[in-house]
Amino acid sequence: MADLSTDFVGIKSPNPFWLASAPPTDKAYNVERAFEAGWGGVVWKTLGEDPAAVNVSSRYSAIYDSYGEVSGFNNIELITDRSLEINLREIEAVKKSWPDRALVVSLMVPCEENAWKTIVKEVEKTGADGLELNFGCPHGMPERGMGAAVGQVPEYVEQVTRWCKQYSKLPVIVKLTPNITDIRYSARAANRGGADAVSLINTINSITGIDLDQMTARPIVDGKSTHGGYCGPAVKPIALNMVSEIARDPETQRLPISGIGGISNWRDAAEFISLGAGCVQVCTAAMVYGFRIVKEMQDGLNNWMDSKGYERLTDFQGLAVPNTTDWKYLNMNYKVVADIDQDKCIGCGRCYIGCEDTSHQAIELTPQADGTNRFDIIEEECVGCNLCQITCPVEDCITMVQKDTDKPYMNWTQDERNPFKDVS
Ligand SMILES: Cc1cc2nc3c(=O)[nH]c(=O)nc-3n(C[C@H](O)[C@H](O)[C@H](O)COP(=O)(O)O)c2cc1C
Ligand code: SF4
Ligand code: SF4
Repeated sequence: MADLSTDFVGIKSPNPFWLASAPPTDKAYNVERAFEAGWGGVVWKTLGEDPAAVNVSSRYSAIYDSYGEVSGFNNIELITDRSLEINLREIEAVKKSWPDRALVVSLMVPCEENAWKTIVKEVEKTGADGLELNFGCPHGMPERGMGAAVGQVPEYVEQVTRWCKQYSKLPVIVKLTPNITDIRYSARAANRGGADAVSLINTINSITGIDLDQMTARPIVDGKSTHGGYCGPAVKPIALNMVSEIARDPETQRLPISGIGGISNWRDAAEFISLGAGCVQVCTAAMVYGFRIVKEMQDGLNNWMDSKGYERLTDFQGLAVPNTTDWKYLNMNYKVVADIDQDKCIGCGRCYIGCEDTSHQAIELTPQADGTNRFDIIEEECVGCNLCQITCPVEDCITMVQKDTDKPYMNWTQDERNPFKDVS
């Protein structure tokens, strides 16, 4: 059995699976049951100054995949709507009862030194393990100068991080907003401010759809709506890219990362860890499927690590980072072509339509005597784009096969076809 225990910036947890700051971590009742189910840690739902935030009804909307499962989730909720005092009391009690689990407290107060100084001191008294600064909430709070309104200005990120480090001995994790052009600027700012780590991503500005009868976006609040924050499986590719950008950046490559965004199973978690994350956080999957999913996450990660011979998480943490590079360093002499397994092909023609209409006309259709069609790859025309493999409904029917080009590695900066070869 692999060892899943985690030491993330000095915060220990029995496994890397933490619940992200959100409704699952809103109160002691939820967090206690999450710990009973096996979650390694939680980031408590974001606390703010009293009076507590007030929420609207309704609050959530979603988009679904073809199986009816939630693939993207949208919310217009604010930070905690319970008083600071109740939250702090519950945090203290939960930490006492569960000393082996990570309990990090998420915070969002106005961008004023005294406000941050006061709240970090209050949290420190609870015995919590760390602070997470919510610079990411994209709805409601930015209108009040908080959340993404801070996260979108590197100078503010740096300043608030510096205050928190100055006034607290707890590890400070800066939670970044994806609603920016280049995530590296905010990560660098957090690093300059002295952050112990960054966590990402928070939710992405979104409108999931329009109710065409009411002519209103969802979720609907008395005939009106507002943009929300998007999360769930659909955002995972965006989150993975942002994590890799930070892990690859010379200024932040040593900055610990807590990976968040669309993590629904052990494989998603392993992907974030392979890109450098030291632990992961989950929200939507827990909201849609319940706390017990963590059991499958632990078992799945354990089994996979055993099969690969990895004894602890650090054995594969970051291994995918050096293989994630700039386009200009990819090998121009590498070639793959599609190959159709005729025994598996059901003759649906989807590969043919895709390649014929939008790719390289590299699939030949031959009508058969029995009225069916046979599809063959024209190797000389195939550019190895993967489109046919992506569209084929039969598993492993189309594989991409490497062709020996007899040419050595050569990237775009070395390629004679590059008009800027000598200057790039
Ligand atoms: C209903 C809801 C409320 C949330 N509230 C907070 C919050 O108070 N503070 C925070 O930092 N992030 C909040 N988030 C964002 C999540 O912590 C997380 O960053 C995001 O959902 C991406 O993870 P996921 O794809 O696993 O859901 C909230 C998300 C949802 C869905
Ligand atoms: S890999 Fe691309 S170019 Fe080659 S056959 Fe498939 S769709 Fe056509
Ligand atoms: S998409 Fe797959 S199953 Fe359909 S014709 Fe092409 S190879 Fe055959």
